Amino acid sequence: MKDKILSALENGGEYVSGEELSKNLGVSRTAVWKNIKALRDEGYIISSSTKRGYRLEGVPDILNKQLICGGLDVSSAGTDMLILKTVDSTNDEAKRMAANGAPSGLIIAAENQTGGKGRLGRSWCSDSGGLYFTLLLRPELPPADIAGITLSAGYAVCLAIREYTGLDALIKWPNDVIIGNRKVCGILTEMAAQSDRIDYVVIGIGINVNHSEFPGEIKNKATSLFIETGERIDRNKLFRLVIEKLDKVLGSFLFSLSAEDMEGFKDLCATMGRRVTLERSGVTISGEAVDITSSGELVIKDDNGKEYNINSGEVSVQGIY
Ligand code: BTN
Repeated sequence: MKDKILSALENGGEYVSGEELSKNLGVSRTAVWKNIKALRDEGYIISSSTKRGYRLEGVPDILNKQLICGGLDVSSAGTDMLILKTVDSTNDEAKRMAANGAPSGLIIAAENQTGGKGRLGRSWCSDSGGLYFTLLLRPELPPADIAGITLSAGYAVCLAIREYTGLDALIKWPNDVIIGNRKVCGILTEMAAQSDRIDYVVIGIGINVNHSEFPGEIKNKATSLFIETGERIDRNKLFRLVIEKLDKVLGSFLFSLSAEDMEGFKDLCATMGRRVTLERSGVTISGEAVDITSSGELVIKDDNGKEYNINSGEVSVQGIY
């Protein structure tokens, strides 16, 4: 009931009378009042006027499923959502749930992670104020066909950040999102598959949203949307936008970017045209990033003109990190 009242108050930001709420939701005026009180106790600021009713003036900075997903028209990402206060890692929770049959499209989000994981065995700073979530997908495809999935997810997050904040967010291949030369989002994709069939894939996304600072080791490499804009971000609104973009980008082209999105991706890719260095199995390749293939490989041309198609590994980009 609380969620229904919240969503009625969300619509339009106008006053809604107690009588209207009670009639539309089929509950007593007392029940309406009790739920308004419960919402206020959770930190929602709701003004009341005897003549006009209730109006939502402010929402607390906590993730709310109704505000994120209510009325969303999605088919592949965010068809259901579970929000946890704390978890070890949303990726690990998603994998546990996947093993127990959880459906494709489910998003698991958490306010905090006690063991947030990054790529290459690193940890991911998961203090309050960020968006930490994992999308579970069960594409009926062989593993090779989803090579572009992390690229697509990074592109979707980049589009959402640009639309919400107006900041010049860019992608650092394959899927970090950066602002200036600092990282604002990282993505960790994990998969369970047979050779010819995917069982499930989990796409874990961490976005630095309302952090005002970062711990020592990442202080000079990380940034947040709050740091960049100087304003607190409504995480529920941003999350909703990210899900809409993910659904659109991942849903329509079976996990490889369409030709149009591929051009869009390249335009927003800070790695393109830059000098890069790749360390892989003890071998170093240095050169210019000249292209990205349709399956998401980075094409590096070394100083002798030899081209390498790279599909994984840690690429450092001159001037970024
Ligand atoms: C990276 O850039 O190294 C990837 C970072 C991925 C972090 C996200 S936060 C949500 C999800 N759960 C995790 O444990 N990791 C990912």
